[in-house]
Amino acid sequence: MDEDKRWTQLWLAYNPCQDAGNGGLFQHTTLCGFDREHPVLRNALAELERGLNKMLGITHVIEWSTPSHDGKSADQALLPDTGFTVRRVSEGIRPEGYRLTEQDGILTLEAADEKGVLYGIFHILRQIALEQPLMQTNVLCEPDNPLRMLNHWDNMDGSIERGYSGNSFFFENGEVLVDERTHDYARLAASVGINGAVLNNVNVKDQATWLITDRYFDKVAQIARIFEGYGIKLFLSLNYASPLELGNLNSADPLNEDVIAWWRGKFSEVFARIPNLGGFLVKADSEGRPGPFTYGRTQADGANMLADLVKPHGGIIIWRCFVYNCTQDWRDTKTDRARAGYDNFIEMDGDYHDNVILQIKNGPMDFQIREPVSPLLGGLTRTNQMLEVQAAQEYTGQQIDLCYLIPLFKEVLDFKTYCRPDIDTVADVVSGRTFGNSLCGMAAVSNTGNDENWTGNDLAAANFYGFGRLAFSTSLSAEEIAAEWAGMTYSNDREVKDSIVKLLMGSRDTYEKYTSPLGIGWMVTPNTHYGPSVDGYEYSRWGTYHRADHLGLGVDRTDSGTGYVRQYHEPNASRYNSVEECPEELLLFFHHLPYTHMLKSGKTLIQHIYDSHFEGVEEVEEMIRVWESLKGRIPDASYELVRERFDRQLYNAKEWRDQVNSYFYRKSNIPDEKKRVVF
Ligand code: GCU
Repeated sequence: MDEDKRWTQLWLAYNPCQDAGNGGLFQHTTLCGFDREHPVLRNALAELERGLNKMLGITHVIEWSTPSHDGKSADQALLPDTGFTVRRVSEGIRPEGYRLTEQDGILTLEAADEKGVLYGIFHILRQIALEQPLMQTNVLCEPDNPLRMLNHWDNMDGSIERGYSGNSFFFENGEVLVDERTHDYARLAASVGINGAVLNNVNVKDQATWLITDRYFDKVAQIARIFEGYGIKLFLSLNYASPLELGNLNSADPLNEDVIAWWRGKFSEVFARIPNLGGFLVKADSEGRPGPFTYGRTQADGANMLADLVKPHGGIIIWRCFVYNCTQDWRDTKTDRARAGYDNFIEMDGDYHDNVILQIKNGPMDFQIREPVSPLLGGLTRTNQMLEVQAAQEYTGQQIDLCYLIPLFKEVLDFKTYCRPDIDTVADVVSGRTFGNSLCGMAAVSNTGNDENWTGNDLAAANFYGFGRLAFSTSLSAEEIAAEWAGMTYSNDREVKDSIVKLLMGSRDTYEKYTSPLGIGWMVTPNTHYGPSVDGYEYSRWGTYHRADHLGLGVDRTDSGTGYVRQYHEPNASRYNSVEECPEELLLFFHHLPYTHMLKSGKTLIQHIYDSHFEGVEEVEEMIRVWESLKGRIPDASYELVRERFDRQLYNAKEWRDQVNSYFYRKSNIPDEKKRVVF
């Protein structure tokens, strides 16, 4: 394959590499208890052959054997004393998990199901690509999260809502696309453990409403089959108003008999045509989308009605909690958008049926570079819940600026909710460990598109890779994940790898430094959400205010303000309520403070704003120097593409620095102590 084509395979490029003594293990493969013709097995074994061939140059056809009924291999006498055995086990390993052991030259992969084999084989390929020996391996890997999903915000005209890597590869001009990229996508997603994907945007309008009709069944079913071969369940986003738009009814009231009958018939039709469909994702009563509130019903009424009707078909309903008043008046300082998710959902905790999952954004606002963790996570104690993060860099640099998001996702997972005395982190809650439920997990808004490199910026692929790896194994560190990705994608050369890891690991802090300070968020250009506009949303209807005046800045969400802090369990509530104890990076999210407020660093708030913005730009300059040191050591095409994005990032960072610093200098009239240029 020429280099360009190879590049489109991302971390599955299978670059030729040094054999750390692994090649010899694959002369002969024995399958015990698995059917070679099972679609998942077929794909897994094909992947193994492809990887071995490209990375280690093993060109001869691997020999296979399947044992006869007595459990012994038919040609056991002929078996060499090294080899690879894949064995089905009936206990000791959870579904989708696998155990990999090497002893005396035999590498054994054990799993309870085909998906376990698939993930085990990707584990083997990762080790080979990273030039790590498989000798003496002894690991048991089981996914931490039952559901590990990607949400695509793809529209049927081919555009992607908040997409920064070209157009959709699922839709174009109102048609569903099925081609080589569908397969490659499934391979990439499966290789990091993704087991569910929602094909279309949560804002379901126009043609997308028709995805659950005969117009699109055949193509959607084709995609569902391809995905199934990689252990991925297909889901669709649903238009809550479908009974009106498709059914000619005059209501979508979840308690109306005609509406219920219509949905019943519709789901029978959909599951008959797409039998392996996982279910539906629903954005209701949010940002103009219709929902049960329209009919005076609750969110639970809406979700349960749909859930009951998909249940006989094995389906689930994933119901989003992104419900808030988007027609707020900025003059109203009591209504607090941060409160909305909790206020709208907490009362009905326990009322949602068992095949409903509430999907909760990581923060109470909307994927800002810094937000506290949503109090709904762990606030709900009797409802299936799932964490939603955004790999698409809507507010975090749009895949122009480098922003490796795995450290942010880790922080959210590690957050102690105090919903009970132990086993109470967000990772515990969404994995099902806290409440013993099995319908839960993590979803990411995908950052992919039809750009050759999938994610616009080559380095943004680390967020796609990292989300999957983290959702599978929440205890991996952001750094380990970065190193894996860099090694597989670029090179195992220590210096190259270390430089890329360094760039990734520092990028989130850098981005935060030159954008909005100390958790206040926003200050972005309205609509596009790229670049600074300090007052862009200050007097609009979206509920996203910073409340700066000539004395100070920040939103008072304490007991004396909007009272949002009380949505947390103790001791989090008291910690956030107190200026002294509040984590400093979130200070302005919770408190309105004077510019002269003294931070723990010994700097005033205003000086912190100046300093961090100057530092942010300097750090981007340093990132560029690090990237330039890689010239000639990584593929030129990638070097150049990313180099150009760094130029745009530097321009953006300077815009942010100068606009934010000037804004607060003009408001406060307090000059920079270091007398740098503030306009
Ligand atoms: C953000 C984003 C929208 C999106 C919404 C959502 O507000 O800007 O484009 O539709 O989130 O999550 O539903």
